[in-house]
Amino acid sequence: MKIGVLASGRGTNLQAIIEAIERGELHAQVAVVLSDHQEALALERARQHGIPAVFLDPKRHPSREAYDLAVAEELKRYQVEVVALAGYMRIVTPAFLARFPLRVVNIHPALLPSFPGVEAQRQAVEYGVKYSGCTVHFVDEGMDTGSIIAQAVVPVQDDDTAESLAERILKEEHRLYPYVLELMAQGRVEVRGRKVYIRR
Ligand code: GRF
Repeated sequence: MKIGVLASGRGTNLQAIIEAIERGELHAQVAVVLSDHQEALALERARQHGIPAVFLDPKRHPSREAYDLAVAEELKRYQVEVVALAGYMRIVTPAFLARFPLRVVNIHPALLPSFPGVEAQRQAVEYGVKYSGCTVHFVDEGMDTGSIIAQAVVPVQDDDTAESLAERILKEEHRLYPYVLELMAQGRVEVRGRKVYIRR
């Protein structure tokens, strides 16, 4: 399975995916890493592993659709089958999703549908929930609203800050994302309406 990773920042989830592949736990290949930020550490991580790293400048495209079409074209060039968003700070357009139907996934640092959007860990701490976690879901046109594939639960402690909770959640993200991608590689992820089933 050829994965294209879209990342805007430091890329620790990308790193976890690469390492799972190198350990033989994930039967896939990261065919390309693409970013909307030239300085994204994710691009550097890709290069260090001999993976094509592409920066596409949003400013050089007249609209979000135009940008997304350029991204999709680049992904197709590398024969990407599954697109994994990993800290990608843009909402993808319907035109993009149409090119990868049920093939775009994202990881979010909360138990959706709680705390969508930015600063999910801070939202969780401020709300006072006792458990949070992370969610891998299919991407649809909304913000963190797509069908849920898998979640991992993390306890929230009384003295947690957004940062300490983020760190605890991140460890689970690094386990959950490669695990879900492996399920996809094995063809075990089945979507029926809103629900996702994992075939045995
Ligand atoms: C992660 O917390 C992920 O859940 C969220 O953005 C963060 C990306 O971190 N979507 P990294 O760039 O993978 O280190």
